[in-house]
Amino acid sequence: MQDKPKFFGRRQGRTIRKAKSFLLESFLPRILIKPQDNLKLENCFPEAKQKYCLEIGFGDGDHLAGIAKSQPENGFVGVEVYKNGVANLLSLLTGVKEGNDEDLKADITLSDGRVDNVRVFDDDVRLLFSSLPDASFDKVFLLFPDPWPKTRHANRRFVNPDNLKELARIIKKGGILQIATDHPIYKKWTLDTMSENNDFRWTAKTSDDWRNPPADWFETKYQRKAVREGRRPVFFEFERI
Ligand SMILES: C[S@@+](CC[C@H](N)C(=O)[O-])C[C@H]1O[C@@H](n2cnc3c(N)ncnc32)[C@H](O)[C@@H]1O
Repeated sequence: MQDKPKFFGRRQGRTIRKAKSFLLESFLPRILIKPQDNLKLENCFPEAKQKYCLEIGFGDGDHLAGIAKSQPENGFVGVEVYKNGVANLLSLLTGVKEGNDEDLKADITLSDGRVDNVRVFDDDVRLLFSSLPDASFDKVFLLFPDPWPKTRHANRRFVNPDNLKELARIIKKGGILQIATDHPIYKKWTLDTMSENNDFRWTAKTSDDWRNPPADWFETKYQRKAVREGRRPVFFEFERI
């Protein structure tokens, strides 16, 4: 495992209540992955999956929980530092909500209609990179990353040459890096940074391709907030070449 990189976001927010604390203690360990040498995704799920996808910074988990349910044939790794977000994802996966204390049993299961196709790493994704073999993923989602709009914070932006080098390594040739953002500075930053990168190609042919989300999309919390506040999200898709 590499040295701990500096993380500038929040690790925890308001007090996590009883049901979600219970899920963090008793359910998270069942789906948690840890950094280790040569982490083979085929071994992380009960059976081999058709495709493997990574969501970096899944926030409250709405997109991850939604897409994992709609694609039971694929395996999903979600990474999030923010503990309250991880707890919320667990609530979405199990259906356990605050107030129903009788649900807080040791043998909590996934909610009806779900297969066991989500794994979680509850820390900085950069700590996981070195564990992952080349060409691990078919698709990586980076949805509404923290924009760090001030110029003096630009080096905190996730889209940067170091992270892109790792993403290029772990995404299969022909695989996809999907980046969504609503922030004008991050929109330009992403396109400028990606245009200087030789490992990825922007797939958009018309403006509809980046103005609209892909067909299999599940809205995120930050996407809803952006739309509520009058900002227009964009959905950039880059192919690993
Ligand atoms: C602005 S929020 C967006 C959350 C979610 N994707 C959404 O659209 O609602 C960005 C999230 O990325 C997470 N994050 C930022 N850097 C990360 C990293 N290096 N590893 C894992 N998570 C990270 C933060 O904790 C935060 O929850």
